[in-house]
Amino acid sequence: MKKILFLLSVLTVVFLFTRVPSVSTDTGYAGVEACKGCHEGYYDSFMQTPHGKKAVVGSPAAQFGCESCHGSGSEHVSKGGGKGVAIFGFSKKLDAKERSAKCLACHEDAQHLISWNMSKHKSNGIACTDCHSMHAGIGKGLKLGQPDLCFDCHKDIRLQSNKQSHHPVREGKITCTDCHDTHGTFGPKMLRADTVNELCYKCHAEKRGPFRFEHPPVETNCLNCHAVHGSNHNSLLVRKTPQLCQSCHEVAFHPSTPYTNADSFTANQPSNKLIARACLNCHTNIHGSNGPSDNGQKFIR
Ligand code: HEC
Ligand code: HEC
Ligand code: HEC
Ligand code: HEC
Ligand code: HEC
Ligand code: HEC
Ligand code: HEC
Ligand code: HEC
Ligand code: HEC
Ligand code: HEC
Repeated sequence: MKKILFLLSVLTVVFLFTRVPSVSTDTGYAGVEACKGCHEGYYDSFMQTPHGKKAVVGSPAAQFGCESCHGSGSEHVSKGGGKGVAIFGFSKKLDAKERSAKCLACHEDAQHLISWNMSKHKSNGIACTDCHSMHAGIGKGLKLGQPDLCFDCHKDIRLQSNKQSHHPVREGKITCTDCHDTHGTFGPKMLRADTVNELCYKCHAEKRGPFRFEHPPVETNCLNCHAVHGSNHNSLLVRKTPQLCQSCHEVAFHPSTPYTNADSFTANQPSNKLIARACLNCHTNIHGSNGPSDNGQKFIR
């Protein structure tokens, strides 16, 4: 009887080893080759990414292969595979944190995703795999290119970027992620800078100053006057001039106050200030000026 049992168990072990040669009995890991037989397509796509390259330090290929993400799979293999059979499948029904944890096991340190915990994406139940596909991704494993990837969820930003004046994001000259880090940052709104102005200066350095005469709303926040994702007014302005200026400035005693009857278009002598850009015709250096005292102070050339 004992002999028969012994023979049977030897036979099972031999059987298992011939079916799935690379089963590593003590870890529960089956190894990439075991998965390849039944999932060739997934194997091929895996091999094409850095994840599938043994030479990439710390990559899944250099560790547990498929099972670095899907969890140990020897039970899945021995049961002949199947949906929901002893394997982590990244179903959308699973909690986002649980799905992301598989990635963060490696990426929290290696890829400097340390601010993920502070990101609005995490706190709103978005997982890594909502943007990244590990088997059908394009560059950087993304499901879609930018900006379409972002527009899928951010319809309001898409609307703004269709306005007449907009940053050339749709044109592909800059990307959403030039300004935002979707993995979270220490700054506001996941910006790649500590403040809005610091962000703007990265590409518009000439607006930084210091100027001899500064215009306070400029130093405070560029968005006092600009709508960064798009506007129907020129130069991304939140309103057109002169209304923009008059939202802060009393112009009652200005030498060129435009809104008197005598000065309006309906009067005999229309004034030059009523041309749409009136204020800017004279106050050209609206972001600050180094000009000589009197003119400089009033941002006039
Ligand atoms: C004997 C064949 C076989 C082997 C070996 C095998 N699988 Fe599977 N696996 C399947 C089948 C069949 C399914 C169900 C496929 C489907 O529903 O489209 C499946 C499903 C899966 C799923 C989806 C599970 C879910 O719940 O969504 C994952 C992930 C998976 N396998 C990973 C692996 C990994 C990793 C390995 C290697 C450790 C592996 N498989 C080895 C046959 C196999
Ligand atoms: C076992 C560790 C490990 C796990 C688990 C892991 N990764 Fe990676 N990943 C790496 C390494 C290592 C690289 C290569 C880094 C490099 O090129 O410097 C990488 C690269 C990437 C890249 C860049 C790909 C490219 O084409 O440049 C993306 C995106 C990525 N991983 C996302 C993920 C996501 C999403 C998950 C979870 C589903 C995940 N990773 C799970 C280790 C891992
Ligand atoms: C909202 C979409 C989104 C989510 C969620 C997301 N990513 Fe990304 N990820 C991107 C984009 C877009 C890029 C392309 C690089 C860039 O421009 O920032 C990227 C790039 C990467 C890279 C390549 C390294 C680099 O900086 O170029 C890695 C690694 C990565 N992501 C891992 C992760 C991990 C891990 C998670 C989950 C913790 C995650 N991502 C969540 C959109 C996302
Ligand atoms: C870096 C992490 C990672 C590695 C490594 C990886 N996968 Fe996946 N796999 C995923 C993610 C995430 C999904 C969910 C769909 C997607 O993102 O493309 C997935 C989906 C799958 C599915 C389909 C699940 C379903 O919903 O039906 C199978 C099967 C699968 N992987 C098999 C494999 C095999 C086989 C390997 C190794 C050759 C492998 N995976 C390596 C992360 C990984
Ligand atoms: C030139 C830089 C820049 C680009 C490009 C950019 N953003 Fe922004 N985004 C900002 C700034 C600055 C804010 C902060 C606005 C504020 O504080 O009111 C912001 C805010 C946001 C917000 C939060 C909005 C809110 O009301 O709280 C979302 C969502 C957003 N951006 C998505 C995107 C998407 C999607 C893209 C690409 C289509 C994109 N952004 C491109 C600079 C940019
Ligand atoms: C799967 C859906 C999804 C995708 C894809 C996505 N986002 Fe988001 N994003 C959200 C949700 C949900 C929020 C939180 C609610 C909100 O502010 O709209 C958010 C918030 C944001 C915020 C506001 C951050 C804050 O602090 O208020 C920014 C900026 C942002 N996303 C940028 C991006 C960019 C850039 C991309 C493309 C690379 C992108 N998102 C792709 C779902 C998504
Ligand atoms: C990643 C680089 C980058 C960042 C950061 C950036 N911009 Fe721009 N900005 C551009 C580019 C590129 C253009 C288009 C220039 C051109 O077409 O000549 C532009 C154009 C503009 C314009 C003129 C738009 C028009 O219709 O004429 C304004 C206004 C502007 N940016 C304001 C801002 C503000 C405010 C910020 C900070 C919130 C900012 N930018 C951050 C790259 C950037
Ligand atoms: C007080 C309102 C106001 C503030 C605040 C402001 N701007 Fe402007 N900006 C304007 C006006 C008005 C124009 C249009 C000028 C024109 O048409 O001659 C303009 C035009 C621009 C342009 C496109 C034309 C050019 O001069 O290059 C850029 C870029 C720009 N601003 C960047 C910025 C940045 C960066 C900040 C923050 C440091 C900022 N603006 C703050 C009013 C403002
Ligand atoms: C968000 C509010 C705000 C907006 C919008 C704004 N300004 Fe100003 N401006 C100020 C403040 C605050 C000062 C400094 C205090 C003062 O001298 O009135 C100032 C100063 C000035 C000065 C110098 C005044 C002096 O006595 O030295 C001029 C000229 C000026 N602004 C013109 C404009 C023009 C033209 C526009 C429209 C393109 C504009 N401002 C838009 C807030 C604003
Ligand atoms: C025809 C040229 C011209 C136009 C157009 C013009 N300004 Fe002026 N502005 C000046 C001059 C010159 C001064 C300096 C006057 C002084 O020092 O008494 C001045 C001074 C100012 C001052 C400083 C405070 C003051 O009253 O001395 C503000 C604020 C101002 N302008 C805002 C505006 C606004 C807002 C508009 C558009 C509604 C505008 N300006 C249109 C030429 C102009």
